[in-house]
Order: sequence, then C-alpha cells, then structure tokens
Amino acid sequence: MSFKEVVLAGIPEQLPEPIPYDGQVSHAPKRKDILTLEEKKLALRNALRYFDAKHHSILAPEFARELKDFGRIYMHRFKPDYKMYARPINEYPFKSLHAGAIMVMIQNNLDPAVAQHPNELITYGGNGAVFQNWAQYLLTMQYLASMTDEQTLHLYSGHPMGLFPSSKEAPRAVITNGMMIPNYSSQDDWEKFNALGVTQYGQMTAGSFMYIGPQGIVHGTTITLLNAGRKISSDDGSLAGKVFLTSGLGGMSGAQPKAGNIAGCITIVAEVNIKAATKRHEQAWVDELIDDLEALAKRVTQARERKEVVSIAFHGNIVDVWEYFAAHNIYIDLGSDQTSLHNPWAGGYYPAGLSFKDANEMMVSDPEAFKKEVKKSLVRQTSAINKHTARGTYFFDYGNAFLLEASRAGADIMAGDGVLFRYPSYVQDIMGPICFDFGFGPFRWVCTSGLPEDLAKTDKLATSVLKDIMQNSPVEIQQQLADNIRWIEGAQENKLVVGSQARILYADAEGRSKIALAFNEAVRNGDLQGPVVLGRDHHDVSGTDSPFRETSNIYDGSQFTADMAIHNVIGDSFRGASWVSIHNGGGVGWGEVINGGFGLVLDGTVEADHKLQNMLFYDVNNGLARRSWARNEGAEISIEKEMVRSPGLKITMPNHTDNNLLDNLF
Ligand SMILES: NC(=O)c1ccc[n+]([C@@H]2O[C@H](COP(=O)([O-])OP(=O)(O)OC[C@H]3O[C@@H](n4cnc5c(N)ncnc54)[C@H](O)[C@@H]3O)[C@@H](O)[C@H]2O)c1
Repeated sequence: MSFKEVVLAGIPEQLPEPIPYDGQVSHAPKRKDILTLEEKKLALRNALRYFDAKHHSILAPEFARELKDFGRIYMHRFKPDYKMYARPINEYPFKSLHAGAIMVMIQNNLDPAVAQHPNELITYGGNGAVFQNWAQYLLTMQYLASMTDEQTLHLYSGHPMGLFPSSKEAPRAVITNGMMIPNYSSQDDWEKFNALGVTQYGQMTAGSFMYIGPQGIVHGTTITLLNAGRKISSDDGSLAGKVFLTSGLGGMSGAQPKAGNIAGCITIVAEVNIKAATKRHEQAWVDELIDDLEALAKRVTQARERKEVVSIAFHGNIVDVWEYFAAHNIYIDLGSDQTSLHNPWAGGYYPAGLSFKDANEMMVSDPEAFKKEVKKSLVRQTSAINKHTARGTYFFDYGNAFLLEASRAGADIMAGDGVLFRYPSYVQDIMGPICFDFGFGPFRWVCTSGLPEDLAKTDKLATSVLKDIMQNSPVEIQQQLADNIRWIEGAQENKLVVGSQARILYADAEGRSKIALAFNEAVRNGDLQGPVVLGRDHHDVSGTDSPFRETSNIYDGSQFTADMAIHNVIGDSFRGASWVSIHNGGGVGWGEVINGGFGLVLDGTVEADHKLQNMLFYDVNNGLARRSWARNEGAEISIEKEMVRSPGLKITMPNHTDNNLLDNLF
C-alpha cells in the first residue's frame, strides 16, 4: 500500500507483525508500577477498546507485558513502518488543506531525528507526549485525512474523540492535554491516569503539534544569555571569556551549547546520559566532550585565558561540577540548570553519587529510596551553587522547576523573607520585564512545502519587515528588534533546522502580524510553493499561566490563577486559529501550569489575511492587558500604545496606590 493508502486505512484490519525492541533509539524510562490489580485490568480494557474483539486474545497478553515492562501501554506493534518525518504537504491524503498541515506537524513531532523517545511517542522533556499510544496516532491521521472544512476533530489527551460538524471558520482541531479536576493533578495522579490510558502530559508543543526541534529553545536561550550578559557586565555586555555552567543535553536542554556559542561565551553542560551527550556532540551542537573533572577544569581555564567561544559537554553529574569548581576556585560567571525537574522522580533528575544505570533501576525498584537520593542531591547542588554565588556568580532558574524542587527538598534556597527564592527565574529577571511585558514572544512558522528555499525566502521577508518596523520603533523595544534582526540574519548560517523547514523569532503583535501578512501574500503570489503554518511556543506573553515561569513576574497575586490561558485559547479559537490547544503541565510540571497554543495556516487566501490579523492581535494583547492590570510597567506602556494604534481596543487600566497610605492600616 502507498503512504496515502496506509494513512487512510487507520488502524489496520489485519494485525501487523510485532516489532522487536530497538536498542538503537532512546526509549522512555520505565514508568512507576502504580496501578492496583483491578486498575491494571481497567488499563487493558481501555487499550483494547481501539481494536476489534477478534484480536483481543493476542493483544491482551501483549499489552499486559508492555504495562509490566514499561509501565505504559504504547501498542508498539502498531507503529507504522513508513518513514516518520514532515513530508511536503502534497504527499499527504487530505480533503481539508488545513488538516493536511496538521498531519505535517504531527509527523514532525514524531520524527526520530526530532523526538526524544520516538517509539513511545515522546517529543521532549522526558514525558512530553504527542499521543499516548500508536492506535491514537493511526486514528487521528485517518480522521485528518478524511475530514472536510465543515468538521472539527476533538482530541482528548491524544485520544481522537471524533469529528463533529462545525463550519469553515471554526478550528479544524481542538486539543486538550492533561486537563484534570484541580485536586487530581499531583505527580502520582499523572502516573496513575496516564497508565490507565485516560490522560497524558502534552508538555507545551509536543501535544499541540507545534514543536520545531531544538531551534526554538536555541533562540530563547540565546536571547536569555545575551540579556544575562548585559545584566552582569558594566560595559558593553559582551560575553567574551565568560563561563556559563549548566546541565542537560536532552530534547530542549541540548540547545544550550549552541546558544552559548551564538551568544559568544564558554559553555559547559553536564550530562549523565552518554547517549544524549554523544548525540549532541555528533550533531555538532556541542564542540567538545570531556569525562574527567580535572581535564574539564584545565580546558575551561585555558578557554577563559584565550577568550575562546567554545561549548564543552561534560559526561557526568552536574552536582560534581559545581562542587569541584567550588573546591578548586574556578569562577563561573553565569549558572543555570536544565535537568528535567518538572519530572523529578521518574528520570528527569539523576542524583549525584549514583551511576546512570543504578539510578534507572532504583527509581523503579525502590521509588521511595530514589526520592530521598534526588532530594539529597538537590541539597548538595544548591549548597555548591550558593558558594559560587557568594563569589559573584549570577545564577538563574531556567524554567525547569529547579528552585521549586530544591525548596521542596529542603535545600538552602529561600530568600530571607522565606517566601521568595534566593535566585530569580529567568522570566522574573529577563524574559518577563524585557520581552513578555512588551509583547515580544516566540513566534514561529513552518514551510509546509518542505523546501529550504521557501524557508530562506521567509527569512528574507521577516528580516525586511523587522527592519522597517525598527525605523520608527519606540526606544523600549529597539534592543529586542536588534537582537532578533541579528538572529534572523544569522539563521541560515547557524543551520538551525532539525526536522521541518521552520523558523522562530521574537516579535510583538505588530511584528507578528506584518510578517504573517507578508508570508500570506507570498503564498498567494506563488513566491512560496506551499502554505505556511504559523504558531508559537506556549511559553509566551499570553498563552501560559505558570507562577514559577511565564507568569513569575506577575506580583498582584494573580500568578496562581489560570484565567489568562483559558481566555487565550477560547479567544484564539473564534478569531481564526486552524487549531487550538490547552494543556495542564508543561515546562515546570503537572499541576503547576496551564498553557495553550495555536496553529494558523496561511493558505494565501483573503480570509487568512483577516484571520491572522484578528487572531494574532488578540493572542498577544490579551497577555499585555493582564500584565498591565498587574501593574507591570512595561506592559502598561505597551498596552497604552496599542490602544492608540488600534482604536477598537479598550483596556481597563490600573490606578496606582501610594504605599505610604497602607503602612499603618493593619
Ligand atoms: N526555559 C525554557 O524555555 C524551557 C524550555 C523547554 C524546556 N524547559 C525545561 O527544561 C527541562 C529540560 O528539558 P529537556 O527537554 O531538555 O528534558 P530532557 O529530559 O530531554 O533532558 C534533560 C537532561 O538532563 C540530564 N540530567 C538529568 N539529571 C542530571 C544531572 N543531575 N546531571 C547531569 N545531567 C542530568 C538527563 O540525562 C537529560 O538528558 C525540563 O524541565 C523542561 O520543562 C525549559
């Protein structure tokens, strides 16, 4: 059968042959054995409902084995044997072009060159799932291939509930991931309900089909490092000869060394998993690989003397590096951490003192003892970091819940007031006040033709739009525009594409809209050879409520509410998005964040012109309005300016209180 026929067939009538375990690719760690006997039976009944009863006698014992061996039922036998990657859109079967674009994006999220654990349908972050199992994938692709522009596909945590009649103006897909009744959102709830097959951790762009490989995080990390450099230096903010120490060479964290090179510093990244370290080294995302602490210390000292721009992977535990460098007086200018602490007990964080293998065994055989090891290690790591910061290191949390988990582990990480942490999150210090409060966030696009020349054309269009905007831009956003022009001009040379022909840059509502209009025009004229998918990371101005990350620089108490993210997904859905998504979890962990995103297909039509302007405007300004109501100065300036530019916008503005008035009232 051709690829198109296989997609249209959905779940095959005849059982495919079982697939032997592939030791060559990275696999999700075995999950906790958390279900009772009765619950295990329920998990099996849940899995078997995708298949004709005539197959159950073969599949039931096979799925029971998967549950025992992996802690989840992935239905490995049903993984299709065609090559998984973002094909040019015309190679997909579809009646709705926009549904075709969604298929491109799904296959990109599962491409083995892109996905962290492709056989377990995990794109990044250890548990960021596209689907829970291969039956859901097959059914979803079949629905997308057969649906029309008068239908909408509703997905519940990877499960395609079905196609419902709607209208051409409605989104083609509505996606929820991990949405729980609030009291059922603990880490163990995820383990249990995911094992039952009724929910999944969609992370941010994994379960919403908007991942573009590590490029997104390279860009975000570059911007963060450039601004961190400006914070620690009294002169021009140059990072030449400055040392940045961090950890993790996984899905997202693997971007750090490349970003460090673009920003111009010496980057050291510790990684316990040799497969992850070697993969990034072979991909040339990190320059050197060292596995001895003494050799590492020598190399760093030499690089500092020569002011080299270099990135070094250290195969070993990050705790050992912080401690060794503290003991040997090796100065760190910038420090962070990008282990997967949103998932601390199931393979996101490897404690010091245990080998990688022993840790993987212990987290399954003795989860309580493993938890203790993780906590002990976080206490050690914090205490070593504290020694460095006492000498002047600027340490920031990079959105992986390091501060939160270290505090829960009892580490010495709280500030004097016992409420705030000793260290800022990068959103509090950098991203929030410099980017989000001015509407700047991770706008991205994918050329569905799959042609690198289309991407190059869009790069040129975006550069020229940003340069035009720069000419009359207010002073507050000129640095942002300049950084992003520099980024996009260097994008081709930096070879950032892994998977689909995608690009990211930070822009505000005006920039996003003008760039998108230029692309839609180019699709209409035939300058681009296929539609362009617009989207963004959920880690943005408006899409995400997350008190320890995206909304950590909101100080009116509302950082613990999730109204903004919910308004955003509803608002985007009726203003023109081709698909929308809303997730529990993502970045900092299950129960800690609600985040949403969208996809919008630029098909060259006049309707797309209208939709993109309407939707992108709301998608950014919703967050600016909320940030302004929280009395964030930058956001107040930005939304006031937007009201002048757009007379239809009327936002409730806050009045400020004289704090002296409040001092003796209680
Ligand atoms: N700041 C942001 O914008 C942003 C973006 C994406 C992800 N994140 C967060 O960053 C974290 C990492 O994401 P990821 O996709 O790279 O996850 P990942 O699981 O793919 O990678 C984390 C890596 O850390 C390694 N590791 C774990 N403990 C270690 C230790 N003690 N010492 C050395 N290495 C260790 C693991 O082996 C793994 O390779 C997640 O919590 C994620 O949510 C932040």
